[in-house]
Amino acid sequence: MKSNIVMPDVPEGPIPRHIAIVMDGNGRWAQKRGLPRYRGHIQGASILEDVVNAAIHFGVERLTLYCFSNENWKRPEEELNALMALLKEYMIEQRPTFMKSNVRLRVIGRRDRLPVETLREMDETIRLTASNSGLTLALAINYGARQEIVDAVRRIVGEMLDPEKRDAALKTAGVDSAEKLVDENLIAKRLYDGDAPDPDLFIRTGGEQRLSNYLLWQLSYAELWFTDVLWPDFTPEILKEGIIAFQRRHRRFGGLNKNDSDLR
Ligand code: IPE
Ligand code: IPE
Ligand code: MG
Repeated sequence: MKSNIVMPDVPEGPIPRHIAIVMDGNGRWAQKRGLPRYRGHIQGASILEDVVNAAIHFGVERLTLYCFSNENWKRPEEELNALMALLKEYMIEQRPTFMKSNVRLRVIGRRDRLPVETLREMDETIRLTASNSGLTLALAINYGARQEIVDAVRRIVGEMLDPEKRDAALKTAGVDSAEKLVDENLIAKRLYDGDAPDPDLFIRTGGEQRLSNYLLWQLSYAELWFTDVLWPDFTPEILKEGIIAFQRRHRRFGGLNKNDSDLR
């Protein structure tokens, strides 16, 4: 469902290049209305287009959305089936919109356990949008941050055990041992979305104040912003609020800002 809302504008100031969102509260949204939980997921998916358009309008380059965690397999079967069907439909339905809005789709997470039809439609939308040059929309599906780090370490170990790859890497880096090849940069590159800049702003809806195994490596220096609004009630106006909160923060990355007091 696409609404014809007028996009708000954000005040002058820094815009987060990359926003990561935990879209939480779908189940409670449905329960409050006496509806089955999956109806909350349907409603939650229906507002995605407005949120993506708002992010484009505000000048955000990348949006990473938590759709389904590794831990969400603990949900009842009926809810899991509804979620998998919804993901598949979303991949098909959004193709014309992504092409019109120049959105490039990425998916981060493990492929195992996902139904083949969902994977097929997902791969097709990724392929179709691969050369779009506008906003990058990364959907975290069957995603867990600890699992992501495990997968990155496995890839690195695999490369080090392959003599050809290891020797080429040693030569490029100009070092003499495999240990020296491993640094923050290499680990970051072997994460699922290894070419992405770290998120500048993290938003979680639904009132919980936790990370739930989301982007643990990448969120090291993100600004965190929480709202009680349940995901299906999220709007471009609330995204704007999050960006305004971001603009008021003083990011230091361990250093000092010009206006920090001098305690000499
Ligand atoms: C977030 O909504 C979406 C998924 C986890 C798939 P929830 O389903 O967690 O909603 P609440 O937190 O139970 O309200
Ligand atoms: C995090 O929400 C995962 C998604 C939004 C997809 P959860 O609802 O699964 O998180 P917990 O269980 O409350 O930590
Ligand atoms: Mg939840």
